[in-house]
Amino acid sequence: MTATSTGAKSLPRASTPDTLRAAAIAIAPMLAQGVIARRPRMVELAGRLGTDRRSVRLLQEFRRRYGPGPLRLRVPFRSVALVLSPEHVHRVLDGSPEPFALANVEKRGALNHFQPRGVLVSHGANRADRRRFNEDVLDTGNQVHRMADRLVGKAGEEADELLRTAESRNSLVWNDFAQAWRRAIRRIVLGDAARDDRELTALLTELRYDANWAYLRPKRGDVRERFTRRLQEYLDAAEPGSLAELVAAAPSSAETAPVEQVPQWLFASDPAGMATYRALALLAAHPDQAGRVRAELTDRDLARPQDLPLTRASVLESVRLWPTTAVVLRDSTTETEWDAGTLPAGTATLILSSFFHRDDEVLPQADRFDPQAWLDGRAEQDWSLFPFGGGPGTCPGRELVLFTASTVLGKLLRRHDFRLSAPALRPEALPAALNPFAVRFAVSAR
Ligand code: HEM
Repeated sequence: MTATSTGAKSLPRASTPDTLRAAAIAIAPMLAQGVIARRPRMVELAGRLGTDRRSVRLLQEFRRRYGPGPLRLRVPFRSVALVLSPEHVHRVLDGSPEPFALANVEKRGALNHFQPRGVLVSHGANRADRRRFNEDVLDTGNQVHRMADRLVGKAGEEADELLRTAESRNSLVWNDFAQAWRRAIRRIVLGDAARDDRELTALLTELRYDANWAYLRPKRGDVRERFTRRLQEYLDAAEPGSLAELVAAAPSSAETAPVEQVPQWLFASDPAGMATYRALALLAAHPDQAGRVRAELTDRDLARPQDLPLTRASVLESVRLWPTTAVVLRDSTTETEWDAGTLPAGTATLILSSFFHRDDEVLPQADRFDPQAWLDGRAEQDWSLFPFGGGPGTCPGRELVLFTASTVLGKLLRRHDFRLSAPALRPEALPAALNPFAVRFAVSAR
């Protein structure tokens, strides 16, 4: 530790070789896999190289050698720090958006490709306004969304159609699942009229791949304009029984920019689909837990909206084991004091969820499927576990995601058996990464 010219202690700094190791082992593989849209080949390669496990080991080593952090990296032209302890995760997430702004420079570079006025890249009064709008439409904090009686039918119908396809082939593969999931999401967010609008999704996917490159790729105004125009048409139609109806009814100011809030709901639903599909894989690999989930489904009328606690907890475990938001980023707006020293204003603070969620030096259940942790209060009190973030910037779509995912899982599992054809999952040591594109099931009616 060194003293600054003002006498304040400055936080420990990783050596240059350690900074390079952090870049090569923890950061580059995450960027290569695509932060805004996953690149299937890179996801496959990262899985083969075991980069997630190596990243956990590296950050554990840093914590032993440099202390609990935050640990500053030696990056030219940018102050960057790694968060290494759950107490600091708590402090940063609870201290958002001041002094830890969600609208971080790199995140803005990415999301400016298609939603420069999205809440996630907003700050100050605009952020407060857009956050309130998101919470209103997404019914944040309510486990069963106020429009759930309409939404449940849409998700259920798409799950039924998926089951028919799976039954006819005796198998389920990612592509079929993803198509059904996206149909359900378009219906929920924009209305039944958008069910088959794959072009809208394709335009957004193009923009998301650009967003993976952040500032390194020029913006494509033409694609964004086509996407936004099409999206606005659905919002103007405000189809009853969809979130678009609620968008039209929600109070908004000149700064709210509703059409720039909705892309996040659509694109963030892709990882929600991955989490659901991985939850299905987890249950297939844990027949005892699947039996308990089925017991929860028995006697329930799945056409009615309701909370399915264990099914929901299985989705939470899926997203804990394989977090879809690999890194939570903040930029500090002022100088901040820590036990080990001072962090300058303007520091990019990196919180790697894949490290905290699988840190076997801290979590007894790190590499096991333990949905019970989400039911008995252990997970909710533990700042090592934050698949949906935490504090004032917590994902406002959390409950809607869990409701939709558990409804679909419930429909799939109720009368059908899913056996994992690939890959093999060992319950006593779950892999650090699970590539959803490669997961296949054998399906049979019960
Ligand atoms: C598995 C699915 C999802 C996960 C794991 C997830 C996780 C997260 C996380 C960790 C954040 C905080 C990011 C940060 O602190 O920088 C976030 C923000 C956000 N999420 Fe989600 N999300 C998911 C799906 C969704 C869906 C489907 C929606 C909308 C329907 C949604 C809406 C949002 C919005 C609007 C924000 C920005 C919040 C803000 O800036 O205050 N998310 N999400």
